Amino acid sequence: MGNSFCLKDSSPMRSNSCGELRTEHIDSNVRLCGWIDRCRDHGGVIFIDLRDSSGTIQITIDPDQGKELFALAESLRNETVLQVTGKVRSRPQESINTKLITGKVEVLANELKILNQIKGNLPFTVSIHDEENVKEELRLRHRYLDLRRERMNQNLRLRHSTIKTARNFLENEGFIEVETPILTRSTPEGARDYLVPSRVCEGEWFALPQSPQLFKQLLMVGGLERYYQVARCFRDEDLRSDRQPEFTQLDIEMSFMSQDEILHLNEKLIAAIWKAQKNIDLKLPFPRLSWNEAMARYGTDKPDMRYGMELIEVSEIVKEIGFKVFSGAVASGGSVKCIKITNGNTTISNVRIKPGGDIFSEAQKAGAGGLAFIRVREKGEIDTIGAIKDNLNIDQKKALLQKTNASPGDLILFGAGNTKIVNKALDRVRQYLAKELTLIPKTDESQQWNFLWVVDFPMFEFNADEKRLEALHHPFCCPKTEDIGNKNEWKGKLPHARAQAYDLVLNGLEIGGGSLRIHNPELQNQVLETIGLPKNKVKEQFGFLIEALEMGAPPHGGIAFGLDRIVMLLAGADSIRDTIAFPKNQQARCLMTQAPAGASEKQLNELHVSSTWIEPE
Ligand code: AMO
Repeated sequence: MGNSFCLKDSSPMRSNSCGELRTEHIDSNVRLCGWIDRCRDHGGVIFIDLRDSSGTIQITIDPDQGKELFALAESLRNETVLQVTGKVRSRPQESINTKLITGKVEVLANELKILNQIKGNLPFTVSIHDEENVKEELRLRHRYLDLRRERMNQNLRLRHSTIKTARNFLENEGFIEVETPILTRSTPEGARDYLVPSRVCEGEWFALPQSPQLFKQLLMVGGLERYYQVARCFRDEDLRSDRQPEFTQLDIEMSFMSQDEILHLNEKLIAAIWKAQKNIDLKLPFPRLSWNEAMARYGTDKPDMRYGMELIEVSEIVKEIGFKVFSGAVASGGSVKCIKITNGNTTISNVRIKPGGDIFSEAQKAGAGGLAFIRVREKGEIDTIGAIKDNLNIDQKKALLQKTNASPGDLILFGAGNTKIVNKALDRVRQYLAKELTLIPKTDESQQWNFLWVVDFPMFEFNADEKRLEALHHPFCCPKTEDIGNKNEWKGKLPHARAQAYDLVLNGLEIGGGSLRIHNPELQNQVLETIGLPKNKVKEQFGFLIEALEMGAPPHGGIAFGLDRIVMLLAGADSIRDTIAFPKNQQARCLMTQAPAGASEKQLNELHVSSTWIEPE
């Protein structure tokens, strides 16, 4: 028995892992290493649950094995790193633990060696027996302890295994992994760049890649034909539970493939992942919905189609009624849409829809002024607070009930105004109510995975603040040939064209997006001009791309999956932070290392940078 921090012993540190012991090991002498999950003193016998990455095993310390050994066992604290030598034996029938894979056996210890002690109190318990809610801030600050917990440990293993399946699949399909630079110039994906000042090139900056987009296209020009990368991307944007400033894409690009071929290949990749990780056979091909239809029916380009409650356009019916909120919205080019909540009269009170109510506040968060509503009573009578009912004639009432297919007991919520805001508000309310009313069916597990390709995105959207068009995905997406006509029509037709672009949506979350790319340099120039880049800027920022396109670029396209999001969904986690070993918090800070941190004057001087930041009083 020893109590030493240095291991002089040159024999193997352990003979077995904790989680592998079974009845066939009975009577073997074993040496194990791990952490003390918990100790229990059962009056005379001490039990230690010893945990390593493979699982947990019960260690029994019997006073018959010696006083010193027993005294040491009595002094042990949870999370001490321990080496145990002993003999495997079967557990008495009454103490078999069926919840533990090692639960039929235990190790009778004859030697304990403390490999490392615990100093002070632990900020939280690691033990799987103490699944109490630990504040995320504390978990992130002591991430190494958090990672020791079973759930996080499993998530990282799932992440690894998902990547492994993807690599296998892609490599069997002839893809090779190529690394692309981290120190680069801006790769526009719609977020702010993280900038790195150059010491050597005074006054100049690298940008960290928002994605490997341009490099993967240049690899196609380079003749690689099939590329993939588990690629780190950096985006300085507002964080949410499914967004990190530093995240990982499974990035893919291929040459000489049509959109259909690309989508089919990628759904096979996704199916391989779900088969390997969940043993689920996904039904292929995944359904497809045009962007226009998705926006019309769900108000979002990433609809969760596991439940109904679709948006219904009623602008035509209400455009001339006396209720100005409705008629005014239509007159000014907006729209009036609604969702029907079946039996909403019993489940949702007026208070919740009116100012101050939770449903009102959901709509408001999306920019809406409020929600008008009607309740359908017996015999199809319409009842409401305020002006709608009084302003609806019998035909309009009938038309409304018919269009919404409403029955007595139903509640209809309306959004009116700018179409973008109406869509956003009703989408938000739809999702909010679906959760509350448990509309998402809890059926067969394979039906829980609702994959959908959203296709035919518009090339551009109008940025009202900057009063210019901007690329909806990125400015390298190829427009649909039928939308742009001949070369001399490009300028006029491009602003309204659709792109050969697609997103993969799973249960209302965008898990991937891609497109066919422009391989014609003149068309690429025209698209960059359409988003307002003057010729000299195009040359300065994207000259290298245009030049490459002029030197034999093959038709090509690809996709990038959000790996963290895929693992989050596979793991059933609420946030991608639970699938990343060392994530940032909501303020884009690493709570463990306290990065970002200040830099010394000397460093700043070397980088030719000075800070304008003034510490608030
Ligand atoms: P996109 O910008 O759609 O496309 O990104 C692809 C996928 O990456 C995931 N994602 C994120 N995950 C976590 N945190 C973030 N901040 C974050 N931002 C995006 C999403 C998204 O679907 N270059 C193109 C792809 C291409 O055209 O091939 C691109 O980056 O799941």
